[in-house]
Amino acid sequence: MIHVYDDFEAVSRAAAVKFVTWAESAIRAGGSFAVALAGGNTPRRLYELLAARPCRELVDWSRVHVFFGDERCVPPDDSRSNYGMAREALLDRVEIPSRHIHPIPTELPPADAAAAYERTLRAALPALGGRFHLALLGLGPDAHTASLLPRTPVLTETERWVAAVEGGRPFVWRITLTTPVLNQSRQVAFLVSGADKAEALAEVRNGPRDTKRLPAQLIQPADGQVVWLVDRPAAERLPAPQPE
Ligand code: 6PG
Repeated sequence: MIHVYDDFEAVSRAAAVKFVTWAESAIRAGGSFAVALAGGNTPRRLYELLAARPCRELVDWSRVHVFFGDERCVPPDDSRSNYGMAREALLDRVEIPSRHIHPIPTELPPADAAAAYERTLRAALPALGGRFHLALLGLGPDAHTASLLPRTPVLTETERWVAAVEGGRPFVWRITLTTPVLNQSRQVAFLVSGADKAEALAEVRNGPRDTKRLPAQLIQPADGQVVWLVDRPAAERLPAPQPE
């Protein structure tokens, strides 16, 4: 399912409405909402909207459990930190119990950080329904998502839930969730904005399957939904929607 919005703000607002709806539904059904937050720049505006009225008052944040789809191996106060960005835009502004926030331990060497985060996920998710209610993901201009970078060994991981990978922009060591855990999510939402993503979006959605070159194609939850929330510049290369 793909929704095309006029601009970045409209994508962010639509994502905020969906986030609130998914959270309310999960909390009503099972008492908690386990979400893996995306990194990079695109989701910041979504996080700011979630921390502001009316969204902040519509979510029972005490029932929300926050994980991260990937992280750069930098300190939390580094401007490249996905956790740092999420804290500033959302987590420090809503009443989520600190024990419900699970940053990736980037103070450890990459391989140890990945192993530790795998233990965290395997310990925490069973009590939350066994999988993420929602995984938020972005899309790089090279069609990566999370830190599932093109032509890296992490793309063929079938057992581990978390892995270390070096690369990306910025070029750093990263810790990323892998397809085994991402594809267990009940709901995946890609947020994609900007003309620089148009080629990648068109290839991922409409091109031949080539997951080594287009890692975002790996995201296909076996028992879950994927929605793409994109703006018009990012959708530029998609075929025009057929009249209803
Ligand atoms: C990261 C992100 C990454 C991001 C895309 C899009 O840590 O870099 O997880 O997967 O979602 O690169 O990044 P922008 O939103 O900054 O365009």
